Amino acid sequence: MSAMSLRGISLVALLVACVGRTLSSQTPAPAPTTITYTDEQATRGGAVFSSVCLECHARKDMTNEDFRVAWGGRPVFDLFERIRTTMPESGPGSLRRSEYLDVTAYLVQLNGIAASTTPLPDDDAALKTLVLTLRGVIPWVHAPRSARLRPASR
Ligand code: HEC
Repeated sequence: MSAMSLRGISLVALLVACVGRTLSSQTPAPAPTTITYTDEQATRGGAVFSSVCLECHARKDMTNEDFRVAWGGRPVFDLFERIRTTMPESGPGSLRRSEYLDVTAYLVQLNGIAASTTPLPDDDAALKTLVLTLRGVIPWVHAPRSARLRPASR
C-alpha cells in the first residue's frame, strides 16, 4: 500500500470519528423528564380536591380510562392549565395558582406516580417538559390525539 493511500485511509477514519462525535453530541432530543411532586403538595391538593372538586368529580373520574387517554403522554402543563383556566366550572380561576399546582400534584399521585423530594415546579416552561406518563398510554407528546393509542377494550 502506498503512503498516499494510507494517508487517505487515515483521513477518512479521522473524518468518520469527527462526524460520529458531532452526531452523538447533537442528536439526542431532550428525553421526557420524569414528573416530580412532593407528598406535601399532594396532601394539600387532596384537601383542595375534597373541598372544591368533589362536588362535581369523583376521584375515580381522575384515573379512569377516559382520563388516562385524554391526558397521558402529554406535558403535565396541559392538565394544569386546563384545570387552572376552566375549573371549578362554577368559578374558573377562582383558586390560587398554588392550589391549582397542588391539586395537579394530587391527580398525579392518584394515578399511581410516586412522590419525591422535588416539587412539581411552579413554572410553565418547566411544566411543559414534564410528561404525564399514565398507565396504558404511550407517551408520544407530539402525536395528534386521534393517532394515540387507545386501550383495546374501547
Ligand atoms: C361545578 C362543577 C365542577 C367543579 C366544582 C369542578 N369541575 Fe371539573 N369539570 C366539570 C365539568 C362539567 C367538566 C366537563 C365539561 C368540560 O369539558 O368543561 C369538567 C372537566 C374537568 C376535567 C377534564 C376531564 C377530562 O378528562 O378531560 C378536569 C381534569 C377537571 N374537571 C378537574 C377539576 C378539578 C381538579 C376541580 C377542582 C379544582 C374541578 N374540576 C372542579 C365540573 C366541575
